[in-house]
Amino acid sequence: MSADMPPAVPPATTLPMPPAVPLLGHLWDWTAHPLRLLSAGAATGPVFQLQLWRRVLVGYQPEWNRAVLGDLDTFRSVGSLSGMTPYLAAGIVHTDVPDHQPRRRQLNRRFSARSVATLSDQLAELAVQHRPRETVQAASWASTMVRHMLNAALFGSALSDRLLARFLAPLDRRLPAPMLPRPRLFARIDAAIAAVLAEPPPGCVAEHLAGANDAVEQLRTALAAGYDTTAHTLAWAAWHLTGEAERRSAGEVDPLIDEVLRLYPAGWIGSRIAAHDTDCAGVAVPASTMVLYSPYLTHRDPSLWPDPTTFRPARFTDGRPSWSYLPFAAGPRTCLGAHLARLMLRSALAPLCTPVFRQGAGDPTPRPGLTLRPGSQLLIEVDPVRLPRPRGAAGPISVGLR
Ligand code: HEM
Repeated sequence: MSADMPPAVPPATTLPMPPAVPLLGHLWDWTAHPLRLLSAGAATGPVFQLQLWRRVLVGYQPEWNRAVLGDLDTFRSVGSLSGMTPYLAAGIVHTDVPDHQPRRRQLNRRFSARSVATLSDQLAELAVQHRPRETVQAASWASTMVRHMLNAALFGSALSDRLLARFLAPLDRRLPAPMLPRPRLFARIDAAIAAVLAEPPPGCVAEHLAGANDAVEQLRTALAAGYDTTAHTLAWAAWHLTGEAERRSAGEVDPLIDEVLRLYPAGWIGSRIAAHDTDCAGVAVPASTMVLYSPYLTHRDPSLWPDPTTFRPARFTDGRPSWSYLPFAAGPRTCLGAHLARLMLRSALAPLCTPVFRQGAGDPTPRPGLTLRPGSQLLIEVDPVRLPRPRGAAGPISVGLR
């Protein structure tokens, strides 16, 4: 090779792969134990291939993340895994170049840190109103809390809570429940969102989007994208928070949230489709290939995170590294609701920063579905003696399992 020739880019077909089964490839393992399969793949190299229903390439090093997430011209959303669920195959999630950037710019304004900060008081009130009053399963408590908070933030609490719960329920169930088409339910929620848009309560996101011709779809997609992601994160965060020996103040929860998002990134896998032949972080990727990035693998890579499986919020006291920390992805498609999610998490955790709440039994090991969720019940216990009594209440406060 002459000195001025670029180094040869290895073709994707030569990439390593974890052990596969004849005919099925990795499809069975992907369905049954995807996290184990991903970890086995990561042990073969920084970029590896999997034989699913189609060949996919998976990378997890910062340069791969930057190449895949930074270039919207080459790596497209339409045709990727998010298109397999009706909850995400719409709105901004399903918009590619050239429309993505202008639409995102408009939406960003409504979800900026400054804009969502106006919701702080409302969310803090909801957090106190819905804090645990008896021993709870963190996941179901968190789902209810986040449902109410999203209703407040997006719709000024004007959507029927019953309908909202019905719409979101499949996202709480195992696969394939979130993938199944539900045209009647979607039509009902769309009609309800349209009714809110016709007379939006002041201050909510719907008020700002009213008048846009795709407002219903954008709000429905944001609702779905923001629900189980935030609820699962909150469940883990509340359980870890209540298990700490030293009580944190409400102003000190950010490193704990960061560490929960590192160890249990709800968006554990993301995918794109290559629009044309390209060189991606030194790998030749043919047009139409599906490429995956995995916050789960990146966040557990010992070359990036010392002692990666240990829960240690203090590792975030010096900030968050880009491209090796991507719970909200990164680049032009970074999570639209990241500021809102952090505000909901901070608000919901604030009332729990007291010894009234204690960590109960549970195993925080994550289980993958559409998003990552706690694999077992995580209990949060309440000390009934120290719990402030609701005004006018008499007698003991019940401790049961909700
Ligand atoms: C802890 C909570 C959350 C986590 C971990 C999370 C994670 C993510 C990730 C990883 C992506 C990128 C997916 C990809 O393109 O591959 C994403 C995108 C997105 N998220 Fe979130 N999210 C959270 C909360 C929210 C909330 C509260 C909302 C809105 C209410 C939201 C709305 C969206 C939307 C609309 C996108 C698509 C953005 C685009 O394609 O331009 N998310 N989120």
